[in-house]
This record gives sequence, C-alpha cells and structure tokens, in this order.
Amino acid sequence: MENALIEPVKIFDTEDALYRYTARDIILLINEFTSKKGTCTLVLSGGKTPANLFRKIGTDFADKVDWDKVYIFWGDERCVPMDDEYSNYNTAYNSLIASINIPNRNIFRIHGELSPKDAADKYEETLKTFFTGEKYPSFNIMLLGLGSDGHTASLFPGSSVIDIKDKWVSEYYSENLDSWRVTLTLPVINNSRNIIFLACGEKKSSIIGKIFKGDIDNIPAGKVNPKDGKLYWYLDKKAAGGIR
Ligand code: 6PG
Repeated sequence: MENALIEPVKIFDTEDALYRYTARDIILLINEFTSKKGTCTLVLSGGKTPANLFRKIGTDFADKVDWDKVYIFWGDERCVPMDDEYSNYNTAYNSLIASINIPNRNIFRIHGELSPKDAADKYEETLKTFFTGEKYPSFNIMLLGLGSDGHTASLFPGSSVIDIKDKWVSEYYSENLDSWRVTLTLPVINNSRNIIFLACGEKKSSIIGKIFKGDIDNIPAGKVNPKDGKLYWYLDKKAAGGIR
C-alpha cells in the first residue's frame, strides 16, 4: 500500500534536490496514510539537517496535506527549554509547524524543560496513552538523522540505552556532548512502518559506507532494521560517497 513512490536508497546530486524530493515523497506517504487509514503518525528527527527539509515542506507543501489528520512526534530531544536554539521542537516549530495549519492537540513534543527522567517518563506516558494497549508504538513514518559517529536519534555508540527493551523512551547523558537527551528506544524505532534516514554532506560518507557494508558493530544507526516495515535512505552525492 504505502511507499509506492519511494525506493530503498535515493541519491541526489545536490542538497536542494535531496530536500525537494524527500519532502515530496514524505508528503505522498503522509497522504497515502491519511487517505487510506484516516490518520498519519509522523516522527520528526532532530539536528540541523532536517531543518531544510521541514522548510521545504512548509513552503512547497503546506496546503497539500490535511494536517488535521497528522500527529507529530519526535524521535529525540535535547534537555533544554522549548525555545532554546538547541531544541529539536524549536527547530521544527520555526521551520515547519508555524507554517502549517495543524492543531496543537496533534503535536506531541518531548518536554525538554523537565528533568531528563521526568521528560522521558512524561513522553512515555503520552505515547502509551496514544498507542493504548500496544507492546510498542508503530509509527507510520519515522524520520531519522545520522551522526558521523553512527548515532541516530539519541542512541549513541557505547550507550546502554541501545539495549533497553522494556521502555519506549529513555533519558541519556552524553559525556562527549556534556548534555542530557531523551530518546525513543531501538525497539520502538524498529516497530515503525516506514523509516527514512536523511543525511547529507561529506562528513557522513564514511559512516554510511560502513553501514552499507554491514560493518555495524557499535554503530547504533546500523541496528535500525524495521521488523515489519520499510527502511529508506535519502542522501546527497557527498554523503553517499562511501557506498561502493
Ligand atoms: C539530534 C538528532 C541526531 C541528529 C544527528 C545528525 O537531536 O541531534 O536526533 O540524531 O539527527 O546528530 O545531526 P545533524 O543533522 O545536525 O548532522
């Protein structure tokens, strides 16, 4: 049913083409869900890369979706206030949410202003209310970014959070970043129907090359493998440079 329009790996010559076509395909996928299932649950990724994608959606596709049927979540969040420049919610709000006609009740942010554990517990409770009775939530579309160290969401190399199976959400302290994060756990990510990795730039080429070679020891992004869904990579040529 879904994904009639997107192949597993798409590589674009330029960043602009990457964002333009990723935006188009995501909109097509959202509309397939809203038209055939009545709703679409969409998980936004964090970091800098998706901001350009969100802006493209907000400028070119704002009126192409019945946003009343779309529910927006986050894959992870930094433990900062919602108006902080490092907040993934703040990035998505400024580049997308402020440009689309979506009811506040459809937005499920991670409350980074709380203590890390309270923020994680609150988000888990929110998800368990939304996905009542499920062993794990099954999001229709899960956007993910990729760090050059192989992290995705806030699942970092060497972190014990990767092995958590009995929680949907966890807090995590990154020594390297000297900051707290809140993240969906790997079983939740892998329970999604459509996972889309979006990466651009030469800095990501080496880690992407390793993942595509199957060299995924201690590479959390390499452990993303939807058990009953589809996995897509949207890359620009520079990020795909390490794929043989
Ligand atoms: C975050 C993200 C993280 C991000 C990667 C890539 O909160 O930072 O969830 O997983 O996607 O770090 O970030 P860039 O797009 O900024 O390179």
